[in-house]
Amino acid sequence: MITENSLDQLLSVVSIEQVVGDYVTLKKAGARYTGLCPFHDEKTPSFSVTPSMGIFKCFGCNKGGNAIQFVREIENITFAEAARQLADRYGVELIEVGNKMDEDQYQELQRKREGLQVVLDYAQGFFKQQLNDTEDGALALSYFHERGYTQETRQYWGLGYSPASWDALVKDAESKGFKPERLQEAGLVKQRDKGGWYDMYRGRVIFPLKSSSGKMVGFAGRKMDKTENSPKYINSPETELYKKSDFLYGLFEAKQGIGKEDNAYLVEGYTDVITLWQAGIRNAVASSGTALTPGQIRLIRKFSNNITVLYDGDAAGIRASLRGIDLLLGEGLNVNVVALPEGEDPDSLCKSMGGEAFGNYLKEKAQNFIFFKAQLLLSTSASDPIKKSEAVKDVLQSVALIQDSIKRSVLTRELSNICAVDESILIQELGALLRKNLRDNQASEQMLKEASTYVVAPQPVIPEDAFSEFHQEGALFRLLLLFGDRVMPSHGQTVFQYAIESIMGESSSVAEFKEIIHSPLFRNIWQVWESQQSDAAEAMPLSWPSQTAFIHHSDSAISAWAADVLSRDYVLSEEFEKNYIYIKKESDDVQIQMGVDSVVAHLKRIKIEKEIQATLERLLEAQGEEQELLMEYLTQLNETKLEISKALGAAVSGSGFGAQPKSTQI
Ligand code: GTP
Ligand code: MN
Repeated sequence: MITENSLDQLLSVVSIEQVVGDYVTLKKAGARYTGLCPFHDEKTPSFSVTPSMGIFKCFGCNKGGNAIQFVREIENITFAEAARQLADRYGVELIEVGNKMDEDQYQELQRKREGLQVVLDYAQGFFKQQLNDTEDGALALSYFHERGYTQETRQYWGLGYSPASWDALVKDAESKGFKPERLQEAGLVKQRDKGGWYDMYRGRVIFPLKSSSGKMVGFAGRKMDKTENSPKYINSPETELYKKSDFLYGLFEAKQGIGKEDNAYLVEGYTDVITLWQAGIRNAVASSGTALTPGQIRLIRKFSNNITVLYDGDAAGIRASLRGIDLLLGEGLNVNVVALPEGEDPDSLCKSMGGEAFGNYLKEKAQNFIFFKAQLLLSTSASDPIKKSEAVKDVLQSVALIQDSIKRSVLTRELSNICAVDESILIQELGALLRKNLRDNQASEQMLKEASTYVVAPQPVIPEDAFSEFHQEGALFRLLLLFGDRVMPSHGQTVFQYAIESIMGESSSVAEFKEIIHSPLFRNIWQVWESQQSDAAEAMPLSWPSQTAFIHHSDSAISAWAADVLSRDYVLSEEFEKNYIYIKKESDDVQIQMGVDSVVAHLKRIKIEKEIQATLERLLEAQGEEQELLMEYLTQLNETKLEISKALGAAVSGSGFGAQPKSTQI
């Protein structure tokens, strides 16, 4: 176990916006940052980071917590591992006591990944060293030199060389204690039928493949000659770390540039990415020569909604990839296209034009995909009316994938010019396609609907059980988290004291309070208070733990709860108050007190109702004198209930104070 103290120390030096910023393009919005949630697909940002509190929160999928929890979620590792990772990065020493948590399946997998990682890191070092420090490597150096790569570029991209010998890597690895089997798992070597091992990348220049967080995941080896009898590239096989469909070459290096330019250039080859980078164009990624996958699209969309596809000048290839682009449109990305002149690719053209000119060229030539597609299809069909109408329909199908209706209508108007078809006819056809898409795709439409009511509901959403025990407990702890320590001028008491006394009555002990709290989460939260009480403190006035004690609590449920409450108050109250959603901002003490009164009254009512229920049950079994006593008790209970109900009516006029949106996961 890592001690609370060292976790606190870690979190005090960690910058959450920096940690999150490695994965999400954040935009500053006042005292917080917003961005697209990395944990679920979304097109408009509902993810927010509040540096002053060290928390993140997504209002779409409800994930939230501190920096450690963010790393845990996004890297899919345990809490302790996430803490260690951050501690490494920020140079904080964690103090661990006792034995570690149970090793589960997950950690097994993690060990496998780590083992693979060690092998890949080793091999990367070997290949680099072979390029730079060996006689054999001179050949590869001159290859890179001919391609115009500077030393800085080779260094930055970690380029390397695998010697032409059959077993240079195997031998070196064995001398360093790596078993060939481990190298095989990483796709670096193969076994001969007779036994014995040989290198996979013999005589090739090496391009390391990195994950979007910068970890080595594999290699691509390119042959240096032009002989036909071997493949141009050999790529790593799929492993625990390298999934082709979730990989984009250069993303780690380009993600900042993509955020900054708010645009990603999508090219085909590794060398295209590197050449553009060297020329100062730092927002290019490569799909490695295959059709785009939804996973790759999601990776890009974390950093920008805009993508510009650069096509090598080869019309057949372009036509073949049109469907893939529809995927991008369907995912809500804005797609532009640049078709390069016949026989050129980004690498060659950038070299011949120079970086600055090529950068300008790309900006100038970038064309909306819809228009590009229309022109491409019409160029071969304009003289044939049937082909032409098919082409127009094909283009409209792409338009129908765009979810923004304003964009659709602007595009349609322009299309009517390009195709020389009446706009009203296009609109009619488009309407039919949209309806068909909706029919074919009911699930996603349903999701859209849900998503939109969540964000723009015009009415306060008070779930039916807003007055339930669970919600009232939630409301109480929410008030305590937000205002527990605040001194109420009318009483001289803190909100916490006032709440506890109203619930328990002055004579009862605080310890009894726990008995009325039923939800496990809130019981745990209450324990945070208890754990802060030393024996000596018993006589002291009741004080409530600081917000950070909850935000940075190692129980992720508690910290997620705190992040949720605090982010809602912070974020939603500004933007959503005008729509009367969920949040009543307790701007002054009167409102806070009303809040406490309301919660207390509700909790008392719930308690009384339970007591009434229990008494009724006992009454069923009771006889004689006991029956009479119970009847009397019941009358008392009902009177008290009536009083509480009256008080409730006065205090809150039934507004459901503290009602939480239904989707809040606790
Ligand atoms: P250069 O021709 O050296 O400029 O390389 P390139 O990276 O531009 O390659 P090219 O445009 O021919 O291909 C684009 C991408 O497709 C490459 O970067 C590779 O990811 C992939 N690719 C090309 N040829 C092969 C191959 O033979 N095998 C595999 N697995 N992938 C290939
Ligand atoms: Mn190329």
